[in-house]
Amino acid sequence: MARGRPRKDARFVQDRAAGAAIGCVHVGSHLPGRPVSASVQGELWSSHPRAWAETAEGRIRPLYEHVLDRCPARPGLRLLDAGCGSGLFAELAARRGAEVVGLDAAAGLVEYARGRRTAARFTVGDIERLPFPDRAFDVVTAFNSVLYADDPRRALAEIARVTGPGGRAVVTVGAGPEQAASAAVINPLAARGDVPGPGGLDLADTAAVRAVLLDAGFASVAAEDVAFDVRFANADEAVAAQLPAGPVAAAVRRSGRAAVESALRAFFAPRTGPDGTVRMGLVFRLHLAGRGATAEETDGMP
Ligand SMILES: C[S@@+](CC[C@H](N)C(=O)[O-])C[C@H]1O[C@@H](n2cnc3c(N)ncnc32)[C@H](O)[C@@H]1O
Repeated sequence: MARGRPRKDARFVQDRAAGAAIGCVHVGSHLPGRPVSASVQGELWSSHPRAWAETAEGRIRPLYEHVLDRCPARPGLRLLDAGCGSGLFAELAARRGAEVVGLDAAAGLVEYARGRRTAARFTVGDIERLPFPDRAFDVVTAFNSVLYADDPRRALAEIARVTGPGGRAVVTVGAGPEQAASAAVINPLAARGDVPGPGGLDLADTAAVRAVLLDAGFASVAAEDVAFDVRFANADEAVAAQLPAGPVAAAVRRSGRAAVESALRAFFAPRTGPDGTVRMGLVFRLHLAGRGATAEETDGMP
């Protein structure tokens, strides 16, 4: 399976005006009352842990490598990966010497990670109620997980709370048109409360997220986009790589596997080349926040 490589045109978009960028793909649903994302999403994302790890997770490794370049993991660095999935990023950071904890709501993914990603430690938990003391970590990462929170602001506040003085946080979200098109195909097939929905904080909105992170206690916030392509050997492989994702599992639960597979095949048809290979362009927006003892220390961070 070929995986995408970062394009040279990965764009730096610090302080880009809200709304000027690519449209939002996923935003957190805001159901009133207690947060339920951990139980709902934990179950959905536990549907096919091995398949997620082996067919999907590695495809965004260029994003992980980019973040490791921006926030080098060194021996002794205390790093939390919040919403760690099956633990690939946690493992990559731990292999560079960091003391890494991966947290995820999906017990199935955590079980997989514990068995295969032995350089890091893993725990089942809720990104909206992190089970760690204040200032426990030097770096907190949250790859494409905060959007699933019932209240993304609460998740961002938790990330700020556990980030220590001088520490940094990286929060990412899918922000490209092809990811938006994919969500537009899948989400209507799922029950509304099972997938991120409209309303609340748009995590692709640079200005809005910056304001929330500054309010949560970070001294500086920058944003940038990372874009790369993923390629699949054929349509079967492309479809198989989608099935373990939580929103797709939710769509299968509501509409049945045949309907979901058929929708995915229609989605990939125009992205299939004459040789049968499939290409999809991904864009991830990164919010890079510095806690900093002073604002100056983290200006232009990291
Ligand atoms: C799109 S996956 C991202 C996984 C991994 N970070 C990656 O980049 O491949 C979203 C992850 O967020 C987790 N998640 C969703 N809601 C959560 C919550 N409330 N607390 C902790 N994890 C949550 C899911 O279980 C899933 O593993």
